[in-house]
Amino acid sequence: MKERVMIFDSTLRDGEQTPGAKLNPMEKLEIARQLGRLNVDVIEAGFPISSPGEFRAVKEIAREVKGPIITALARTVKGDIDCAWESVKEAEKPRIHVFLAASDIHMEKKLRKDPETCLKEAVEAVRYAKTLTDDVEYSLEDATRAREEYILEVVEAVIDAGATVVNLPDTVGYAVPKEFGRLIRRIKTEVPNIERAIISVHCHNDLGLAVSNSLAAVQNGARQVECNINGIGERAGNAALEEIVLALKIRDDFFEYETGVETREIYRTSRLVSKLTGISIPINKAVIGINAFAHSSGIHQDGVLKDKSTYEIINAELIGGQAAQMVLTARSGRHAVRNQLETMNYQLGDEEFAKFYEKFLELADKKKEVYKEDLEAMLIDVSYAEPTYELEYLQTVSGTKTVPAAVVRLRKGEEILEKVSTGAGPIDAAYNSVDSITGIDLSLESYNLRAVTHGRDALGEVSVKLTHGDKNIIGRGMSTDIVEASVKAYIDGINKLIKMTGNFNNQNGYYNGISQQAAQQ
Ligand code: KIV
Ligand code: ZN
Repeated sequence: MKERVMIFDSTLRDGEQTPGAKLNPMEKLEIARQLGRLNVDVIEAGFPISSPGEFRAVKEIAREVKGPIITALARTVKGDIDCAWESVKEAEKPRIHVFLAASDIHMEKKLRKDPETCLKEAVEAVRYAKTLTDDVEYSLEDATRAREEYILEVVEAVIDAGATVVNLPDTVGYAVPKEFGRLIRRIKTEVPNIERAIISVHCHNDLGLAVSNSLAAVQNGARQVECNINGIGERAGNAALEEIVLALKIRDDFFEYETGVETREIYRTSRLVSKLTGISIPINKAVIGINAFAHSSGIHQDGVLKDKSTYEIINAELIGGQAAQMVLTARSGRHAVRNQLETMNYQLGDEEFAKFYEKFLELADKKKEVYKEDLEAMLIDVSYAEPTYELEYLQTVSGTKTVPAAVVRLRKGEEILEKVSTGAGPIDAAYNSVDSITGIDLSLESYNLRAVTHGRDALGEVSVKLTHGDKNIIGRGMSTDIVEASVKAYIDGINKLIKMTGNFNNQNGYYNGISQQAAQQ
């Protein structure tokens, strides 16, 4: 049986201290409800003395969110503690969280108080909070820069005063794992009454060590970890909740602890926090970044397709995310491209696939990343039957004080046919050139352009509806250049029309209405 590590989520308090991450009470409530679904052990809902809005938000969360302990932060002053209690007292499981500086730097330079005075204040504050509720947490701010003898003294005194949780914050992200682990071990072994309280840690990420420090603390006796969704928080943020939870879960062969977190809610919680705080998730963010389950290199993609375990240690479903996604690039091999098509339910024969793959490489050269939507559009673009006309060359001129013109060169079997035309714009000019090459009398009924994927290098897909006599044809084309996509769509329509209307050498010398002369040009 594994020992339980409590997950204390401070997204709504320390996380909200991230510059620019202000949440309104409704948004805080929405996140708190989701944290309830995530099944964290403690939700630190806010610092209620800071504003009436904050007080209301914490109160609402305490009333509504059942399951986790709901706590609110307070300095060691009566007014703060009363306010914190007032805000959480209706919770199913309320807690008051009191803090005061413990390092000489903070006590001297910030508080201008001596250590004895601070110790006395800490004890009085805990005793007072204890008159309001049983569950009282005490934090020794800046513990990792404090004198260890002083830490031991404060921890013992606040436990005697009634603290049920003692928190050792690495407030400025200064600790390193081995040293922090040793501190926790020392507290665990040298504080005589330590068995009456849970040791908690709260690590900031200034040196990128918040998660490692938290895990080192757990290995040395901490049984509560304070952390935030997406690692948001003051300055460089706090330990990321999803990283702590997944490290304990994925490496359960190494760590002998478990959490109660419902991991399948991680993805949703992460997206919600990002949406409401406006803080985007870095693409390479561990566990929940969009690249965390994407495989780019051909060798990796090939490996994952053969067996996921080759390059994936986390199953996306475990965090409620989408299945692994391949971002195809010019380095992706045939295997990866074919597999992606199959997952999209496209089965191409070998010859068709060979053509498709050539087109794919052309596109991947122009565009760094090829998405599933691009492949879909390419499937539409590639006509596997031999087309009558193929675009060989296109050049257009347009601008504010220029007459739009287009040079179009088409291949028809062995022949190369070229025309130059002007028009109302570059697309009109190019269509005029195509018309005079094919001689087919067409009218353009509708024209649609859409960006297939995102970004400035997105593929543009054009679809045109053409009419010839009583025939209607839809032509499609795509390219990163929208004029080229437009011309390809037009030519695609013409090729379909020619196929639809039968053999050129019929007895009338017509393609069902297309004059022989025009078709021969
Ligand atoms: O970083 C810190 O020290 C804190 C305390 C208030 C717990 O956020
Ligand atoms: Zn903090």
